Amino acid sequence: MTDTAGYGGPWKASAAEEFSPAASAAPAQKIESKYLRKFLTLEEFEAAAKRKLPRVLYGYAASGTETDASLRQNRESYTAYGLVPRVLMGKRKRDMGVSLFGRRYSAPFGIAPMGASALFAYRADIRLAEAAKSADIPMVLSGASLIALEEVAQAAPGTWFQAYLPAHPEQIRRLLERLARAGYETLVVTVDVPVPGNREVDKRNGFNVTLKPSAGLIWDGITRPAWLVGTALRTTLLRGMPHLENYRAVRGPSILSRADIRGGGAIERHGWAEIRLVRSLWKGNLVVKGILSAADARLAQDCGVDGIVISNHGGRQLDGAVAPLRVLPTIREAVPRLTVMIDGGIRRGTDMIKALALGSDFVFMGRPFLYAAAVGGADGVTRAIHLMREEIQRDMVLLGIGSLSELDASFVSEASCWTSCNRMNDMNFRTN
Ligand SMILES: Cc1cc2nc3c(=O)[nH]c(=O)nc-3n(C[C@H](O)[C@H](O)[C@H](O)COP(=O)(O)O)c2cc1C
Repeated sequence: MTDTAGYGGPWKASAAEEFSPAASAAPAQKIESKYLRKFLTLEEFEAAAKRKLPRVLYGYAASGTETDASLRQNRESYTAYGLVPRVLMGKRKRDMGVSLFGRRYSAPFGIAPMGASALFAYRADIRLAEAAKSADIPMVLSGASLIALEEVAQAAPGTWFQAYLPAHPEQIRRLLERLARAGYETLVVTVDVPVPGNREVDKRNGFNVTLKPSAGLIWDGITRPAWLVGTALRTTLLRGMPHLENYRAVRGPSILSRADIRGGGAIERHGWAEIRLVRSLWKGNLVVKGILSAADARLAQDCGVDGIVISNHGGRQLDGAVAPLRVLPTIREAVPRLTVMIDGGIRRGTDMIKALALGSDFVFMGRPFLYAAAVGGADGVTRAIHLMREEIQRDMVLLGIGSLSELDASFVSEASCWTSCNRMNDMNFRTN
């Protein structure tokens, strides 16, 4: 049995049966490291990553834009709903598997695309993809990643790819050809970055995926020796200076280059015609990421996409953009038959359950997995996946369900006092 400590008495025997990997068809994932077994929540990975990473890198991952309003609301939106469990439902088996695009995954969550991940841990994209593959969940390789997409596909077949569409149709066609040649089957096109968000933290820190070396930056690295040796030196000595490998059909500039990788303002002028073009060229599954309005969800559906990700880019683009969970019910209603996924602020099994109950087919998480990779490489990511699986498994028992497909809106209640009560408790706590 895995570490489901905390159960006692007569519960223990049946919990062992219910929670064993065999009972849930979960892929076996052995975490040997005593250090990693001490991590009991995803939040703990963030604290450890903050200690390990240069300030500049941690700032790039953790922050949002401007006032961080969307970043905060992403988390708060999940506390605005309470769960309504059923009891004595007599379920004997629990299955958290989910079918997506004709394939069965072992859990209802995946790893969101994150640019420049390989600055956080040695070969991080491969580590994330391998951990996801062995847990039988999807990982999305970012178009702003620093490891060639062919290498990732070879290490972990079944990985999804996320693209920022190039400006011109011919460049788009060539990028799609490269992806198809490498064996990618699911393409996620991110549409919420017509211009980069106003990332003031990064501006102050001199970070912009491409780095401007400065005395401050060098000092920042030197004072984090584990990262310096384990990631920065190891990468540059063994692999050379990282490049934006997958932004376009051909290898992009190095992270130290000042080149304009976005191609001027042409991307600002993209419209739904570009998505229709991709649809006509791409034979695999097509997902549009960064939808927040029901009208756009319908337009995406009209373009023939297979799915959408409701997302405000983890609060990293338009500050004040609504929290994805808030618009999920309306979007679900607008496109009842489309595959709808969501990300932003999900940190707990109960968060996922709420999103699924409100109509999402699947969820993604970003930052926690990047922190887990920074802290423990592939094993760190495996540990984080394991924790989420365990939480969902337990939540399903507590909710009285045997399958996630049983979830619907009757399992959630928009607790109007919930957020304010939480705030009051918080205030009382601080004043006492
Ligand atoms: C460091 C970092 C880099 C990101 N890079 C990308 C990217 O290249 N492409 C993309 O579509 N989204 C990117 N995102 C957004 C994530 O895919 C996802 O939407 C977001 O992180 C979800 O919120 P969460 O981190 O609260 O789970 C990035 C997020 C982070 C934290």
